[in-house]
Formats: sequence, C-alpha cells, structure tokens
Amino acid sequence: MALFLVLSILIITTHFCEGYKALVVTQMPSKSHSILNDAIVKQLLKEGNEVTYVRSIEYKNPPSTLRQIDVSSNAEAIPANALNIRSIMDRSVRVNDHYTVKHRMTGVSIKTMENKDVQKLLSDPKEHFDVVIVEFLDNDLLASFAAVFDCPMIWLSPIEVNSDILSRIDEIPNPAYVPDIMSLNIAPFTFPQRVQELWSRLKSQYLYYRYIDDIQSEAYNRLVAPHIIARGRKPPTIQEIRYNVSLVLGYSHVSMGEAARLPQSYKPVGGYHIDEDIKPLPENLMEIMDDAKDGVIYFSMGSNLKSKEWPEETKQSILQMLGGLKQTVFWKFEKMLPNVPKNVHISNWFPQLSILSHPNCALFITHGGLLSTAEALYFGVPIIGIPAFGDQFVNIKRAASKGFGVEVDMSFNVVEDLRTAIEEITSNPSYRQKAKEFSFIYHDRPVKPIVELSHWVRHVVQTRGAPHLRSPAIHVPFYQRFYLDLALSILVLLVISIKLLKLVIKLVWSKKKPVTKKKKN
Ligand SMILES: *[C@@H]1O[C@H](CO)[C@@H](O)[C@H](O)[C@H]1NC(C)=O
Repeated sequence: MALFLVLSILIITTHFCEGYKALVVTQMPSKSHSILNDAIVKQLLKEGNEVTYVRSIEYKNPPSTLRQIDVSSNAEAIPANALNIRSIMDRSVRVNDHYTVKHRMTGVSIKTMENKDVQKLLSDPKEHFDVVIVEFLDNDLLASFAAVFDCPMIWLSPIEVNSDILSRIDEIPNPAYVPDIMSLNIAPFTFPQRVQELWSRLKSQYLYYRYIDDIQSEAYNRLVAPHIIARGRKPPTIQEIRYNVSLVLGYSHVSMGEAARLPQSYKPVGGYHIDEDIKPLPENLMEIMDDAKDGVIYFSMGSNLKSKEWPEETKQSILQMLGGLKQTVFWKFEKMLPNVPKNVHISNWFPQLSILSHPNCALFITHGGLLSTAEALYFGVPIIGIPAFGDQFVNIKRAASKGFGVEVDMSFNVVEDLRTAIEEITSNPSYRQKAKEFSFIYHDRPVKPIVELSHWVRHVVQTRGAPHLRSPAIHVPFYQRFYLDLALSILVLLVISIKLLKLVIKLVWSKKKPVTKKKKN
C-alpha cells in the first residue's frame, strides 16, 4: 500500500513537472507547411504541454486548451500568381531564383512579426515560454522570439538537409557532393555541375549578407528589439541570435535524401507528420479500389498548384490520355471537367493516405513535395514527379536515382512524357521493388520520428537549450576554419625568405664580382 502511494505520488509529480510551455509558429500560408506544425502541436498537447500556436491556416478541431494566434494575413506577402502552371510551362517565371525566394520568405517573416496579435504577445511582460519552435524560412528574424522570451529556440526545417539551415548550426556542407536545395543537379556531379553548385552556394551567401541581412535587421530593430529593452535586457544583435539556435528538427531522412554528414544539433525526423492511425477508405472509394484489378493511379499535384491553372488544351489531353489507360485513375482536381472517361474519377479532395495504403494503389503522380514523397515511401508506392518549384526537383531526382521514381518535365510535352512514364512504371516491376526497399529503410528506425521529435524538444527544455549539442564550428570564423591565417603566414614567410635569399645572393655576388673583373683585366 505504501509502495503504491509512493508510486502514484511519483507518477503524479513527474507528470506535473513534465508539462512545459511551448510557442509553435508556422509562417507560410500554405497547407503543406501547416501540416508539419499541426502535427507537432498535436503531439505536444497530447503530452500535456501548454501550447500557443501562431498559425497561418486554420487548425481544425482545436482542444479548448490551445491558444491560437492567426497570422493568415501573411498571404499578402506572396504575389497572387506566384505559382502558376502555365508560367512554369512556358518558362516565363524563374521559380528557383535564390533572390526571389529569399526575398519573398523574408517578407512573410516580417508580416508575421508585424501582426498585431504577435506584437501583443511580444509586448506582454507576463508572457513566458520554455521553448520556441519556428518554421525556418531562410532568414533569422523569428529566431528573435527566443531572445524576447529568453528561452531556447528550435528551427523546424521543412525541407531536406541544406546549406541554409546547416550554416546556422555548423558549417555549409561541401558543394562538391551535396546539391543546393533548389538545385537541378544530383550527385555525383560532373565538373560543370560541381562548379554550378559552388557558384549557387556563394551566390546564396552573398545575397544573404548583401540584402536579406539588412532587411531583417531593420525589421528586428523596429519590431523586436523594443520588446527586449522593455523587459530590461540589452537586445543582442541579429547575428548573435542567428547562432544561438538550440536544435534543428529537419524534415529529412536517408530514405528520401542523402546520407549527409550532420551536426549533433540536427535531428532528421522526416515523416513525423504521418498519423499511424490510417482512416479506412470511404465505402465508394473502397469498392472502386478493391475492384481495380489493373491497379489504381493516384494523381495529385498537392495543395499549392491548382489543377485549374493547367492550360485548357493540356487538361483535355491529360484526360484523354488517362482515359486510354487500363488502370483506374483518381485525379485530384479542383474543378469538374466535361467528358470524363469512365476509368477516371475526379474530385477536389481524396483521402491521400488511405488511398496510398491500399494494396491496389500502383502509382502516385505527384509534384514531388517532400510530404507526398514521404507518404508514398511510407506505403512503398512508386512515384512519377512533375516538379514545379523549390525542392521538388531535387526530391524527384533523388527518387529517380534511388529507383522508385521517374521525373516528368512540366513542359508543353507533359502529356506524352507522362504517358511514357506511366507505361514504364506500371510495366517494370523494379520501381515497386525499389519503393518497397526504401519503404523498409524509411520504417526501420530505432523509434518513430514523432517520438524522436518529442524526445529532443523535451531534451532542449530540460537542459535549457542543450548547449552541449552545439557544434564548436559556429564560433570559429571562416578564415580560421579554412586555415587561411596559416596559409597567409606561410605565404608571408615564403616571400620574406625569398627576399632574404635574393639579398644574400646579391651580396655574395657583388663580393665576387670585382675578383672576376680583375681576372679579366
Ligand atoms: C540564447 O539562448 C538561450 C537559451 O538556449 C537563451 O536563454 C538566451 O536568451 C539566448 N540569448 C540570446 C542572445 O538570444
């Protein structure tokens, strides 16, 4: 009885100590980005923590304990037709231009900070948090939340391992074998590709220091620093804030990315958003899938690219091409189309996970977003990727090099290329085989990614920022890291030695000279 009492007191008190206060921030007003933070919020709440959620998309069915701050007005920082299939097809926009992307992302971050409810949160001296988890958008502005609340800071990196995030906690990965996140190359590189990667890395760093740093510093001084002063502290510089990150939760995994070298404070938890509890298919879809003896092709370009933006003639040709297949097709399309062939089913929403989990799902045609790639791998379904922007190119190229995917170019030839790719994947069993192999690698981890994520967040809270995980590299300036000081010293020594040697030779020579002259005379 006594033991029982002690035990229950122990359980109650440890449980009581367990809850912490977290601030979670999604900035991008996009469904796929919020899915990532929604999953974290859900997990933290489940563990009994107190969560404040700054979010750009509605969080469905929130528990009464969740406090939300709506920053959906962020969308104003992104031009309305920033993503348009036609302009991608006719190459009239440069989707992966470093400057445009960084500039736009920083604009979203500034919008987040300008939000009046966010400002209210920052200015309230009674507010405090044990940890801040923020979606990383290529700038450091929102890391300053941690400086205001004097608490540890965690970045959530929504893409595979990349130089922008690693440069904040360690070193930039070697461009000779790690592609840029917006690259169109995949290692091993040819000589021109290697040069291209180095150039893009240098350009990215240059743009950051030349433009982004000024913009974010101005915003920091205007929107954040006054709150730190009001709390009686001297505001750190944004550079100090930049390198004061406790942890990066990376949406990455070797099954999708590469076996990159990672610092201790980077935790690859790719796939954590997938809820193990897969909902059964609605009855009508279940029936169609069960009956599809040639398999089902699931076609969805994600939530950012709207299918209605496909050029009219391309839409019709896609529909015709799909109608000629023996497989059943589910096409996620926001608008009903006329003359839909009977093997094609169009809807503006499909239960993606439940479809992918069905054994008759033969193929997933996707834009190649990382979440979709992870979901395909989770169930071992091969993919065709039609990448449109950002990291989608690299994701698909990796899937292709691993053997479970085929890339189709978003061009005016897309229908023909798509038909060829579908034939290739559905007739050659090696794609499915590879998808199953990489699915095994995806699942074969010591713990589930969401459990790992939750462990590390707690670890950061309990150790007040996990300073022991930080790479010593962040305190070593560039010239020391590359021993440029040593190189310079050797150079200087060399130059001095040569000068001295010349002097000595000259002296010896001039002493000898008169002698020889005499002889001649
Ligand atoms: C650095 O991070 C720690 C927590 O890890 C925090 O308490 C401190 O206020 C931060 N300092 C600055 C200058 O941001």
